[in-house]
Amino acid sequence: MPAGVGVAAFVRAYGAFPLPRDLNFLWTVGAMLVALLALMLLSGLTLALTYTPDASLAFSSVEALERRAPSGWLLRSLHMTGATFFMAALYLHVFRGLCYASYRAPRQGLWTIGTLLLVLVMVTAFAGYVLPWGQMSYWGADVASKAVGAIPLIGGTLEQVFLGGDAPGSATLHRMFVLHFTLAFTIVGMVVLHVAVLHAKGSTSPSYRPGSGGASGATLPDAAGRSRMLPFHPYFTVKDTLGVVVLAILFTLVMCFWPGLVSEVENYRPANPLHTPANIEPEWYFLPFYGMLQAVPSKFGGLLVSGGAVAILFLVPWLDRGTAATCAAGRWGGLRWLPCVALAVLACSFVLCGLAGRHHVQGGWMLVGRLATLGYYLYFLAFLPFYARLAQKELRS
Ligand code: HEM
Repeated sequence: MPAGVGVAAFVRAYGAFPLPRDLNFLWTVGAMLVALLALMLLSGLTLALTYTPDASLAFSSVEALERRAPSGWLLRSLHMTGATFFMAALYLHVFRGLCYASYRAPRQGLWTIGTLLLVLVMVTAFAGYVLPWGQMSYWGADVASKAVGAIPLIGGTLEQVFLGGDAPGSATLHRMFVLHFTLAFTIVGMVVLHVAVLHAKGSTSPSYRPGSGGASGATLPDAAGRSRMLPFHPYFTVKDTLGVVVLAILFTLVMCFWPGLVSEVENYRPANPLHTPANIEPEWYFLPFYGMLQAVPSKFGGLLVSGGAVAILFLVPWLDRGTAATCAAGRWGGLRWLPCVALAVLACSFVLCGLAGRHHVQGGWMLVGRLATLGYYLYFLAFLPFYARLAQKELRS
Protein backbone atom coordinates (compact mmCIF):
# COMPACT_ATOMS: atom_id res chain seq x y z
CA MET A 1 0.00 0.00 0.00
CA PRO A 2 1.49 3.44 -0.95
CA ALA A 3 2.41 5.57 2.11
CA GLY A 4 -0.02 8.37 1.09
CA VAL A 5 -2.97 5.96 1.15
CA GLY A 6 -1.91 4.67 4.58
CA VAL A 7 -1.71 8.20 6.00
CA ALA A 8 -5.07 9.13 4.47
CA ALA A 9 -6.69 6.02 5.95
CA PHE A 10 -5.14 6.81 9.34
CA VAL A 11 -6.41 10.42 9.27
CA ARG A 12 -9.88 9.23 8.15
CA ALA A 13 -10.03 6.68 10.98
CA TYR A 14 -9.05 9.32 13.57
CA GLY A 15 -11.47 11.86 12.06
CA ALA A 16 -14.34 9.38 12.28
CA PHE A 17 -13.50 8.36 15.87
CA PRO A 18 -16.82 8.48 17.79
CA LEU A 19 -16.98 10.53 21.00
CA PRO A 20 -19.87 11.11 23.44
CA ARG A 21 -21.66 14.28 22.39
CA ASP A 22 -21.92 15.67 25.94
CA LEU A 23 -18.15 16.18 26.38
CA ASN A 24 -17.64 19.54 28.11
CA PHE A 25 -14.75 22.04 27.88
CA LEU A 26 -12.60 19.95 30.25
CA TRP A 27 -12.17 17.48 27.38
CA THR A 28 -10.38 20.19 25.35
CA VAL A 29 -7.55 20.35 27.90
CA GLY A 30 -5.92 17.26 26.32
CA ALA A 31 -5.67 19.14 22.99
CA MET A 32 -4.28 22.18 24.85
CA LEU A 33 -1.63 19.92 26.38
CA VAL A 34 -0.64 18.62 22.95
CA ALA A 35 -0.39 22.20 21.60
CA LEU A 36 1.69 23.29 24.62
CA LEU A 37 3.96 20.26 24.25
CA ALA A 38 4.65 21.22 20.61
CA LEU A 39 5.42 24.78 21.71
CA MET A 40 7.77 23.57 24.47
CA LEU A 41 9.65 21.31 22.06
CA LEU A 42 10.08 23.96 19.37
CA SER A 43 11.09 26.76 21.77
CA GLY A 44 13.31 24.37 23.78
CA LEU A 45 15.17 23.10 20.72
CA THR A 46 15.82 26.68 19.60
CA LEU A 47 16.98 27.72 23.08
CA ALA A 48 19.38 24.76 23.15
CA LEU A 49 21.21 26.21 20.11
CA THR A 50 22.77 28.95 22.25
CA TYR A 51 22.71 27.43 25.75
CA THR A 52 26.00 26.34 27.38
CA PRO A 53 25.73 23.74 30.17
CA ASP A 54 28.74 24.93 32.15
CA ALA A 55 28.59 26.48 35.62
CA SER A 56 30.73 29.46 34.59
CA LEU A 57 28.88 30.13 31.31
CA ALA A 58 25.26 28.96 31.71
CA PHE A 59 23.87 32.15 33.28
CA SER A 60 25.60 34.46 30.80
CA SER A 61 24.58 32.29 27.81
CA VAL A 62 20.93 32.70 28.83
CA GLU A 63 21.45 36.46 29.45
CA ALA A 64 23.09 36.85 26.02
CA LEU A 65 20.17 35.08 24.38
CA GLU A 66 17.65 37.34 26.18
CA ARG A 67 19.47 40.59 25.45
CA ARG A 68 21.35 40.14 22.18
CA ALA A 69 19.91 37.32 20.03
CA PRO A 70 17.07 38.45 17.72
CA SER A 71 13.74 37.58 19.42
CA GLY A 72 15.73 35.68 22.08
CA TRP A 73 13.61 37.25 24.83
CA LEU A 74 10.49 35.97 23.06
CA LEU A 75 11.84 32.42 22.81
CA ARG A 76 12.72 32.32 26.47
CA SER A 77 9.39 33.86 27.51
CA LEU A 78 7.51 31.31 25.40
CA HIS A 79 9.39 28.47 27.12
CA MET A 80 8.99 29.86 30.65
CA THR A 81 5.31 30.78 30.25
CA GLY A 82 4.78 27.43 28.52
CA ALA A 83 6.09 25.56 31.58
CA THR A 84 3.56 27.26 33.85
CA PHE A 85 0.65 26.74 31.46
CA PHE A 86 1.66 23.13 30.82
CA MET A 87 1.69 22.28 34.52
CA ALA A 88 -1.61 24.12 35.16
CA ALA A 89 -3.25 22.28 32.25
CA LEU A 90 -1.81 18.98 33.45
CA TYR A 91 -3.23 19.40 36.97
CA LEU A 92 -6.62 20.31 35.47
CA HIS A 93 -6.44 17.23 33.19
CA VAL A 94 -5.72 14.93 36.17
CA PHE A 95 -8.48 16.59 38.22
CA ARG A 96 -10.92 16.04 35.34
CA GLY A 97 -9.92 12.36 35.33
CA LEU A 98 -10.62 12.11 39.07
CA CYS A 99 -13.94 14.03 38.77
CA TYR A 100 -15.30 11.76 36.07
CA ALA A 101 -13.61 8.55 37.22
CA SER A 102 -11.89 8.24 33.81
CA TYR A 103 -9.40 5.82 35.40
CA ARG A 104 -11.93 3.00 35.80
CA ALA A 105 -12.01 -0.15 33.65
CA PRO A 106 -11.22 -0.39 30.81
CA ARG A 107 -8.98 2.70 31.04
CA GLN A 108 -6.59 1.66 33.84
CA GLY A 109 -3.70 1.41 31.35
CA LEU A 110 -4.49 4.85 29.96
CA TRP A 111 -4.46 6.29 33.48
CA THR A 112 -1.19 4.53 34.33
CA ILE A 113 0.50 5.95 31.21
CA GLY A 114 -0.92 9.37 32.17
CA THR A 115 0.54 9.16 35.69
CA LEU A 116 3.89 8.11 34.24
CA LEU A 117 3.67 11.17 32.00
CA LEU A 118 3.01 13.35 35.05
CA VAL A 119 6.18 12.04 36.73
CA LEU A 120 8.25 12.54 33.57
CA VAL A 121 6.92 16.07 33.09
CA MET A 122 7.70 16.95 36.71
CA VAL A 123 11.28 15.66 36.45
CA THR A 124 11.72 17.49 33.12
CA ALA A 125 10.40 20.74 34.63
CA PHE A 126 12.74 20.41 37.62
CA ALA A 127 15.78 19.71 35.40
CA GLY A 128 14.86 22.68 33.19
CA TYR A 129 14.65 25.04 36.15
CA VAL A 130 18.25 24.24 37.11
CA LEU A 131 19.60 25.12 33.64
CA PRO A 132 19.68 28.97 33.78
CA TRP A 133 21.95 28.63 36.82
CA GLY A 134 20.44 31.52 38.76
CA GLN A 135 20.23 31.61 42.55
CA MET A 136 17.01 29.53 42.69
CA SER A 137 18.39 27.04 40.16
CA TYR A 138 21.47 26.47 42.29
CA TRP A 139 19.76 26.35 45.67
CA GLY A 140 16.87 24.32 44.29
CA ALA A 141 19.37 21.70 43.11
CA ASP A 142 21.03 21.87 46.53
CA VAL A 143 17.76 21.29 48.45
CA ALA A 144 16.74 18.46 46.07
CA SER A 145 20.12 16.74 46.41
CA LYS A 146 19.87 16.88 50.22
CA ALA A 147 16.34 15.45 50.08
CA VAL A 148 17.59 12.57 47.90
CA GLY A 149 20.56 12.13 50.28
CA ALA A 150 18.11 11.51 53.16
CA ILE A 151 17.07 8.13 51.68
CA PRO A 152 18.50 5.43 53.98
CA LEU A 153 21.37 3.26 52.64
CA ILE A 154 21.43 4.44 49.01
CA GLY A 155 20.83 8.18 49.63
CA GLY A 156 24.53 9.15 49.67
CA THR A 157 25.25 7.36 46.40
CA LEU A 158 22.14 8.80 44.72
CA GLU A 159 23.14 12.30 45.85
CA GLN A 160 26.60 11.84 44.32
CA VAL A 161 25.09 10.55 41.06
CA PHE A 162 22.65 13.47 40.96
CA LEU A 163 25.26 16.16 41.67
CA GLY A 164 28.27 14.55 39.98
CA GLY A 165 30.34 15.79 42.94
CA ASP A 166 29.92 17.14 46.45
CA ALA A 167 28.00 20.29 45.50
CA PRO A 168 25.98 21.51 42.50
CA GLY A 169 28.32 22.48 39.64
CA SER A 170 29.11 21.90 35.95
CA ALA A 171 28.66 18.13 36.27
CA THR A 172 25.15 18.71 37.71
CA LEU A 173 24.33 21.07 34.85
CA HIS A 174 25.43 18.50 32.26
CA ARG A 175 23.26 15.87 33.90
CA MET A 176 20.23 18.17 34.03
CA PHE A 177 20.70 19.25 30.39
CA VAL A 178 20.85 15.66 29.14
CA LEU A 179 17.88 14.67 31.34
CA HIS A 180 15.80 17.65 30.20
CA PHE A 181 16.51 16.94 26.54
CA THR A 182 16.03 13.18 26.66
CA LEU A 183 12.86 13.24 28.74
CA ALA A 184 11.26 15.82 26.43
CA PHE A 185 11.39 13.30 23.57
CA THR A 186 10.38 10.40 25.81
CA ILE A 187 7.28 12.43 26.76
CA VAL A 188 6.37 12.84 23.07
CA GLY A 189 6.53 9.05 22.58
CA MET A 190 4.44 8.46 25.69
CA VAL A 191 1.80 10.99 24.58
CA VAL A 192 1.45 9.13 21.26
CA LEU A 193 0.92 5.91 23.25
CA HIS A 194 -1.53 7.70 25.61
CA VAL A 195 -3.70 8.91 22.74
CA ALA A 196 -3.49 5.55 20.90
CA VAL A 197 -4.75 3.75 24.03
CA LEU A 198 -7.53 6.32 24.40
CA HIS A 199 -8.61 5.55 20.84
CA ALA A 200 -8.61 1.84 21.58
CA LYS A 201 -10.65 2.18 24.80
CA GLY A 202 -12.88 5.18 24.03
CA SER A 203 -13.69 8.26 26.09
CA THR A 204 -15.71 8.62 29.25
CA SER A 205 -18.24 11.44 29.40
CA PRO A 206 -19.69 13.89 31.94
CA SER A 207 -22.75 11.65 32.43
CA TYR A 208 -20.37 9.01 33.82
CA ARG A 209 -19.53 11.15 36.87
CA PRO A 210 -19.88 9.13 40.14
CA GLY A 211 -23.07 10.13 41.87
CA SER A 212 -24.49 11.68 38.69
CA GLY A 213 -26.94 8.84 38.22
CA GLY A 214 -26.01 8.85 34.51
CA ALA A 215 -23.21 6.47 33.66
CA SER A 216 -22.55 4.05 30.89
CA GLY A 217 -25.62 5.14 28.95
CA ALA A 218 -23.50 7.88 27.37
CA THR A 219 -22.43 5.50 24.60
CA LEU A 220 -25.88 3.96 24.00
CA PRO A 221 -28.65 5.40 21.76
CA ASP A 222 -31.04 7.85 23.50
CA ALA A 223 -34.76 7.20 24.08
CA ALA A 224 -35.59 8.28 20.51
CA GLY A 225 -33.04 5.80 19.13
CA ARG A 226 -30.53 8.53 18.10
CA SER A 227 -26.83 7.87 18.62
CA ARG A 228 -25.30 9.79 21.52
CA MET A 229 -21.93 9.74 19.76
CA LEU A 230 -20.46 12.24 17.29
CA PRO A 231 -17.41 11.86 15.02
CA PHE A 232 -14.20 13.59 16.14
CA HIS A 233 -14.15 15.64 12.93
CA PRO A 234 -15.62 18.24 12.52
CA TYR A 235 -17.37 18.45 15.94
CA PHE A 236 -14.42 18.05 18.30
CA THR A 237 -11.71 19.40 16.00
CA VAL A 238 -13.64 22.71 15.99
CA LYS A 239 -14.16 22.60 19.77
CA ASP A 240 -10.50 21.75 20.43
CA THR A 241 -9.34 24.51 18.06
CA LEU A 242 -11.49 27.02 19.94
CA GLY A 243 -9.98 25.81 23.24
CA VAL A 244 -6.43 26.21 21.88
CA VAL A 245 -7.20 29.72 20.54
CA VAL A 246 -8.59 30.84 23.95
CA LEU A 247 -5.50 29.34 25.59
CA ALA A 248 -3.23 31.21 23.12
CA ILE A 249 -4.93 34.53 24.00
CA LEU A 250 -4.56 33.91 27.76
CA PHE A 251 -0.98 32.78 27.22
CA THR A 252 -0.09 35.95 25.29
CA LEU A 253 -1.71 38.18 27.92
CA VAL A 254 0.28 36.55 30.76
CA MET A 255 3.54 36.52 28.77
CA CYS A 256 3.29 40.19 27.74
CA PHE A 257 1.57 41.85 30.70
CA TRP A 258 2.21 39.65 33.73
CA PRO A 259 5.63 38.00 33.29
CA GLY A 260 6.17 38.10 37.07
CA LEU A 261 3.58 35.34 37.36
CA VAL A 262 5.84 32.82 35.64
CA SER A 263 9.30 33.95 36.78
CA GLU A 264 11.19 34.33 40.04
CA VAL A 265 13.18 37.56 40.62
CA GLU A 266 15.87 35.72 42.59
CA ASN A 267 16.64 33.56 39.55
CA TYR A 268 17.80 36.62 37.61
CA ARG A 269 20.84 36.73 39.93
CA PRO A 270 23.70 34.37 38.99
CA ALA A 271 24.17 31.29 41.18
CA ASN A 272 26.27 32.09 44.23
CA PRO A 273 27.26 29.12 46.43
CA LEU A 274 28.37 31.57 49.16
CA HIS A 275 25.05 33.34 49.53
CA THR A 276 21.92 31.41 50.50
CA PRO A 277 18.75 33.33 49.48
CA ALA A 278 16.37 34.18 52.34
CA ASN A 279 13.46 32.39 50.64
CA ILE A 280 14.32 29.20 48.83
CA GLU A 281 11.15 27.88 47.27
CA PRO A 282 10.35 25.88 44.15
CA GLU A 283 8.14 26.98 41.26
CA TRP A 284 4.42 27.26 42.15
CA TYR A 285 3.60 23.87 40.64
CA PHE A 286 5.88 22.06 43.08
CA LEU A 287 4.77 24.03 46.15
CA PRO A 288 2.07 21.52 47.28
CA PHE A 289 4.69 18.75 47.33
CA TYR A 290 7.21 21.06 48.99
CA GLY A 291 4.58 21.83 51.66
CA MET A 292 4.06 18.10 52.29
CA LEU A 293 7.84 17.57 52.43
CA GLN A 294 8.13 20.16 55.18
CA ALA A 295 4.97 19.21 57.09
CA VAL A 296 6.64 15.99 58.28
CA PRO A 297 9.34 16.42 60.96
CA SER A 298 11.74 13.80 59.55
CA LYS A 299 13.51 14.41 56.22
CA PHE A 300 13.00 10.89 54.90
CA GLY A 301 9.39 10.84 56.16
CA GLY A 302 8.73 14.10 54.31
CA LEU A 303 10.23 12.65 51.14
CA LEU A 304 8.01 9.57 51.44
CA VAL A 305 4.87 11.65 52.01
CA SER A 306 5.49 14.11 49.16
CA GLY A 307 6.69 11.40 46.72
CA GLY A 308 3.76 9.23 47.84
CA ALA A 309 1.35 12.03 46.90
CA VAL A 310 2.23 11.46 43.22
CA ALA A 311 2.81 7.71 43.52
CA ILE A 312 -0.69 7.18 44.96
CA LEU A 313 -2.15 8.29 41.61
CA PHE A 314 -0.83 5.02 40.13
CA LEU A 315 -3.08 3.13 42.55
CA VAL A 316 -6.28 5.10 41.92
CA PRO A 317 -7.89 2.58 39.49
CA TRP A 318 -7.45 -0.12 42.13
CA LEU A 319 -8.49 2.00 45.13
CA ASP A 320 -11.82 2.84 43.47
CA ARG A 321 -13.33 -0.47 42.37
CA GLY A 322 -16.52 1.19 41.10
CA THR A 323 -17.86 0.36 37.64
CA ALA A 324 -20.21 2.00 35.16
CA ALA A 325 -23.05 0.04 36.77
CA THR A 326 -22.22 1.18 40.32
CA CYS A 327 -21.91 4.70 38.99
CA ALA A 328 -25.52 4.65 37.84
CA ALA A 329 -26.73 2.80 40.93
CA GLY A 330 -29.51 4.22 43.04
CA ARG A 331 -29.36 6.46 46.01
CA TRP A 332 -25.81 6.05 47.33
CA GLY A 333 -27.37 5.76 50.79
CA GLY A 334 -28.54 9.36 50.32
CA LEU A 335 -24.89 10.42 49.88
CA ARG A 336 -25.03 11.50 46.23
CA TRP A 337 -23.36 14.80 47.20
CA LEU A 338 -20.36 13.06 48.78
CA PRO A 339 -18.12 12.81 45.65
CA CYS A 340 -18.42 16.57 45.07
CA VAL A 341 -17.54 17.36 48.69
CA ALA A 342 -14.65 14.87 48.64
CA LEU A 343 -13.26 16.37 45.42
CA ALA A 344 -13.59 19.88 46.88
CA VAL A 345 -11.67 18.74 49.99
CA LEU A 346 -8.99 17.21 47.75
CA ALA A 347 -8.61 20.39 45.66
CA CYS A 348 -8.57 22.66 48.75
CA SER A 349 -6.03 20.39 50.48
CA PHE A 350 -3.74 20.54 47.44
CA VAL A 351 -3.93 24.35 47.33
CA LEU A 352 -3.46 24.66 51.11
CA CYS A 353 -0.38 22.38 50.97
CA GLY A 354 0.98 24.80 48.35
CA LEU A 355 0.26 27.84 50.52
CA ALA A 356 1.85 26.14 53.52
CA GLY A 357 4.91 25.38 51.34
CA ARG A 358 5.04 29.03 50.30
CA HIS A 359 5.15 30.02 53.99
CA HIS A 360 7.81 27.38 54.74
CA VAL A 361 5.31 25.54 56.96
CA GLN A 362 6.15 27.82 59.86
CA GLY A 363 3.93 28.86 62.80
CA GLY A 364 0.23 28.28 62.10
CA TRP A 365 1.10 27.01 58.59
CA MET A 366 2.54 23.86 60.19
CA LEU A 367 -0.94 22.85 61.35
CA VAL A 368 -2.47 23.87 58.01
CA GLY A 369 0.20 21.89 56.13
CA ARG A 370 -0.38 18.77 58.20
CA LEU A 371 -4.18 18.91 58.02
CA ALA A 372 -4.07 19.57 54.27
CA THR A 373 -1.68 16.64 53.74
CA LEU A 374 -4.10 14.46 55.70
CA GLY A 375 -7.03 15.76 53.63
CA TYR A 376 -5.17 14.92 50.41
CA TYR A 377 -4.42 11.34 51.45
CA LEU A 378 -7.90 10.77 52.94
CA TYR A 379 -9.44 11.25 49.50
CA PHE A 380 -7.46 8.34 48.07
CA LEU A 381 -7.16 6.02 51.06
CA ALA A 382 -10.58 6.52 52.71
CA PHE A 383 -13.08 8.10 50.33
CA LEU A 384 -12.37 6.16 47.09
CA PRO A 385 -12.52 2.64 48.60
CA PHE A 386 -15.48 3.53 50.87
CA TYR A 387 -17.64 5.09 48.18
CA ALA A 388 -17.15 2.27 45.66
CA ARG A 389 -18.03 -0.29 48.35
CA LEU A 390 -21.18 1.64 49.30
CA ALA A 391 -22.34 1.71 45.69
CA GLN A 392 -21.62 -1.99 45.20
CA LYS A 393 -23.64 -2.83 48.33
CA GLU A 394 -26.60 -0.84 47.00
CA LEU A 395 -26.34 -2.56 43.63
CA ARG A 396 -26.51 -5.99 45.28
CA SER A 397 -29.44 -5.12 47.58
C1 HEM B 1 1.95 15.29 28.62
C2 HEM B 1 0.85 15.08 29.27
C3 HEM B 1 -0.47 14.66 28.69
C4 HEM B 1 -1.00 14.86 27.44
C5 HEM B 1 -0.38 15.64 26.28
C6 HEM B 1 -2.30 14.22 27.41
C7 HEM B 1 -3.15 14.21 26.33
C8 HEM B 1 -4.44 13.69 26.32
C9 HEM B 1 -5.41 13.84 25.26
C10 HEM B 1 -5.15 14.59 23.95
C11 HEM B 1 -6.53 13.21 25.64
C12 HEM B 1 -7.86 13.17 24.88
C13 HEM B 1 -8.64 14.47 25.10
C14 HEM B 1 -9.10 14.64 26.52
O1 HEM B 1 -9.74 13.73 27.07
O2 HEM B 1 -8.81 15.70 27.12
C15 HEM B 1 -6.29 12.61 26.94
C16 HEM B 1 -7.19 11.83 27.64
C17 HEM B 1 -6.95 11.27 28.88
N1 HEM B 1 -5.86 11.49 29.69
FE1 HEM B 1 -4.21 12.55 29.17
N2 HEM B 1 -2.54 13.64 28.64
C18 HEM B 1 -1.46 13.89 29.45
C19 HEM B 1 -1.30 13.51 30.77
C20 HEM B 1 -2.22 12.77 31.51
C21 HEM B 1 -2.13 12.47 32.90
C22 HEM B 1 -1.03 12.97 33.83
C23 HEM B 1 -3.22 11.70 33.23
C24 HEM B 1 -3.61 11.07 34.55
C25 HEM B 1 -2.86 10.83 35.55
C26 HEM B 1 -4.00 11.52 32.03
C27 HEM B 1 -5.16 10.79 31.94
C28 HEM B 1 -6.02 10.78 30.86
C29 HEM B 1 -7.27 10.05 30.80
C30 HEM B 1 -7.83 9.11 31.88
C31 HEM B 1 -7.84 10.35 29.58
C32 HEM B 1 -9.17 9.80 29.01
C33 HEM B 1 -10.31 10.68 29.41
C34 HEM B 1 -11.60 10.13 28.94
O3 HEM B 1 -12.01 9.10 29.46
O4 HEM B 1 -12.22 10.72 28.05
N3 HEM B 1 -3.39 12.20 31.02
N4 HEM B 1 -5.01 12.92 27.33
